[in-house]
Amino acid sequence: MSIEAVVFDAYGTLYDIQSVAAVTEDTFPGYGDLITQIWRIKQLEYSWLRSLMGRYESFAVVTRDSLAYTLRVLGLTYDREAFERIIEKYLHLELYPDAMAALGAMGERKLAILSNGSPDMLNALVRNAGLDRVLAATISVDANKVFKPSPPAYSLIETTLAIPPASVLFVSSNPWDACGAKAFGLNVAWIERVTPEAMALACVESETVAPLTLFKALRTQMDELGFAPDYRIRALSELPGIVGRA
Ligand code: 2OP
Repeated sequence: MSIEAVVFDAYGTLYDIQSVAAVTEDTFPGYGDLITQIWRIKQLEYSWLRSLMGRYESFAVVTRDSLAYTLRVLGLTYDREAFERIIEKYLHLELYPDAMAALGAMGERKLAILSNGSPDMLNALVRNAGLDRVLAATISVDANKVFKPSPPAYSLIETTLAIPPASVLFVSSNPWDACGAKAFGLNVAWIERVTPEAMALACVESETVAPLTLFKALRTQMDELGFAPDYRIRALSELPGIVGRA
């Protein structure tokens, strides 16, 4: 296999979506974890529902709608300023600590992001973290108005980079995304940040299952969709080794 491009999912893969937890807790003390997890679960759900309904709205809209849903169902009242403070964090999410070093160790391969994020969100995110200096392209599914894991979303990699799926390594920590990319025909590295052993342990550690534990069970473990990733890694730092051998 000759890998000419390495393409990354953004949210949860390069960027830590859990890094909104400080601002959600600060704005609504005692609710931070619950808001953070329900928000992300609903955000993804709305992206898939809108794709199935044929009613695409940008990820910026989906992200706002899912936060509004979350605050409403938790019975929290808020003003516009509180809402905007939380939303703003989505443009300043923290990179995983090993992201920059991994991106910098990919040699001559083209590097890109393919994300459900809307262009305005992604451009701000990439600029704020300094990734614009290393990426050849930041691809938003918005160009085809359908969210991953729909095949036309992944087809934007070839449209943009002019590199066929067989020569692309797609990297995601989102199991549904890894399955979607594999079904499309890309080579896939899945980042298993939460091992099954750690998952099982988290479930028995306390009497009440924390929202983060529920989120991990729903969104960090490999799905039963019949598509296995080519590589199963634990962290971005393992990527240079894979790419070097491919
Ligand atoms: C992405 O960045 C939503 O994590 C997903 O496309």
